[in-house]
Amino acid sequence: MSLPLILAGPIVRKSTATEVNLWITTSKPLEGRTTIEFAEQQLYFPITAEQCIKVGEHAWVYLLHCQAEFSVNQPIYYDINTQYGALSELLADTLYGNETQFSLIIKDKADYLLHGSCRNPHYPSKDSLVIANQQLKTQAISERASLLMMSGDQIYADDVAGPMLMAIQQIIPQLGLFEEQLPGTSIASCSALYADDRNLYHRGEILPHYIDTNNFLSRYNLHKSRPIFSTTEHENHLITFAEFFVMYLLVWSPTLWENISLPEDLPWLDNKSQQSWKTEKLAIEHFVAGLTDVQQLFAHIPTYMIFDDHDITDDWNLTIGWENAVNGHPLASQVIGNGLMSYFLCQGWGNNPEQFEREFIDDFRQLFKSYQHQQHSQLIWSLNRFEQWHYVIQTKPKVVVLDTRTRRWRSESNTNKPSGLMDWEAMLDFQHELIGQEAIIIVSAAPMFGVKFIEALQKAMTLLGQPLVIDAENWMAHAGSANTLLNILTHPKTPQNFVILSGDVHYSFAYDIKLRHSKSSPDIYQITCSGFKNEFPNRLLRFCDFMDRALYSPHSPLNWFTKRKKLLITKRNPSQLNQNKLVNKSAIGELRLDEKGKPTQVSILTAEGKFIDFLPK
Ligand SMILES: [Fe+2]
Repeated sequence: MSLPLILAGPIVRKSTATEVNLWITTSKPLEGRTTIEFAEQQLYFPITAEQCIKVGEHAWVYLLHCQAEFSVNQPIYYDINTQYGALSELLADTLYGNETQFSLIIKDKADYLLHGSCRNPHYPSKDSLVIANQQLKTQAISERASLLMMSGDQIYADDVAGPMLMAIQQIIPQLGLFEEQLPGTSIASCSALYADDRNLYHRGEILPHYIDTNNFLSRYNLHKSRPIFSTTEHENHLITFAEFFVMYLLVWSPTLWENISLPEDLPWLDNKSQQSWKTEKLAIEHFVAGLTDVQQLFAHIPTYMIFDDHDITDDWNLTIGWENAVNGHPLASQVIGNGLMSYFLCQGWGNNPEQFEREFIDDFRQLFKSYQHQQHSQLIWSLNRFEQWHYVIQTKPKVVVLDTRTRRWRSESNTNKPSGLMDWEAMLDFQHELIGQEAIIIVSAAPMFGVKFIEALQKAMTLLGQPLVIDAENWMAHAGSANTLLNILTHPKTPQNFVILSGDVHYSFAYDIKLRHSKSSPDIYQITCSGFKNEFPNRLLRFCDFMDRALYSPHSPLNWFTKRKKLLITKRNPSQLNQNKLVNKSAIGELRLDEKGKPTQVSILTAEGKFIDFLPK
């Protein structure tokens, strides 16, 4: 079957008064130009080799980086004219209504934002990006949000449905992606892996294990070895670069799904796997039906992203013990590196292209041109040392997007203790961005202030030596990170208005935060919207919500035993007819801010189309 020309995209990435970036992946190299029109002006930007990385025999990733003086706060229209025709003709279904070119608006104010995280293709709920598109297409261009912020778990590398893994593996040979060696296992290469009996639903048997000498159980010889990729859903964990890369194409675009055919059942699998296959196949079919909307959404709004754990793996850098285990196993480091390579190509590059030097990108080009295992390991080594994944969006207020995964504050006393989310240097960089700002929007994948009762449970598990079991990582789990963060937020010279956007937890809530006993306290608002297509086990959440309300109300004495005791935290009431503060619904967040950067609307739009407002007390 022949490949479609457009494999995924266009996705509008970093867009400011001086640059527009369009991400697109194609099956053939493009010649031509990008056209951008606004206010009687028509600008042309030739497609160049600099804008492209050839990833496979039939896969080219483009970041069409167009620099000029663009007008802000008014409609802009773009198209990509290629030797195969204009994108507006090739993807006519992706245009809105009576558009003849793709429309876009670059806003200098971040006064209306769409945000969220956690999009698991086979989670049995609708996809919130679909409803987001349905809404965007009915809005006048001038009324659109300034940007869409996706704050983590854009893919779930560690929780992959069987049908998704099979779809990925059907696409890999079609794109001619490189054949990778797999060190530290009896399986020599990717194709041997794809042909192995354990390929589908049994990858736990292939993935590396380690002995955790710091675990108190291991002292009694009760706990011999544990998997490095410890999630319970690791049976289909992505391993190769090609798998990670194709996963992005299949969750962002419908086009390649035409080239996939999935059987109704797989009689050679065990009963449990067969059952999973059937349920997951249905969920994936519903997901795929929404992808035309998703592609349309991304083509019409500047979209920014940052990773959280699942973009790479569950437990990513959770403890120094875990990091050591990965560094000590060649296959484990290669899996993490493959995740990071794909993260750069599909997410990181478009956030802030200036951050990546030519040599950095050339290393990728070189590897894809002629694969050598040595070179692959070298690239992974340098990616592991790269410290520029964080970035800033220069709107008003400024948006500071934090990397909370790779610059961690490692615990020195105990290798099994959760690392802090950012180390001292990363915190200083963060503080530097706040100087002289009246208001600021911070994007932190995980909430800075979690649900205290849940954090207490996580602490208990850490004390039992099991921090990986319930991902005991949050800003407050590490004294160094927590205290530095609180000092930054409460420093007299920092902004008067902080908005913290976060996700990760798979439920939504909003906090208004003030310093206790201070006349000049800044106003801190934390808004958590999670997930786009993921939820929390409902009965457990209702229990935690109840316990948290009972134990940690703003004036409860229990607050004095927490690190955040200096803060008065008030939970906003969601506009639904019950007592719950935590909303357990797949949704996309909508936030509107006034001139001063204070929220005027904190709400979510659920994947089902229900509007829920978080009202201040
Ligand atoms: Fe998630």
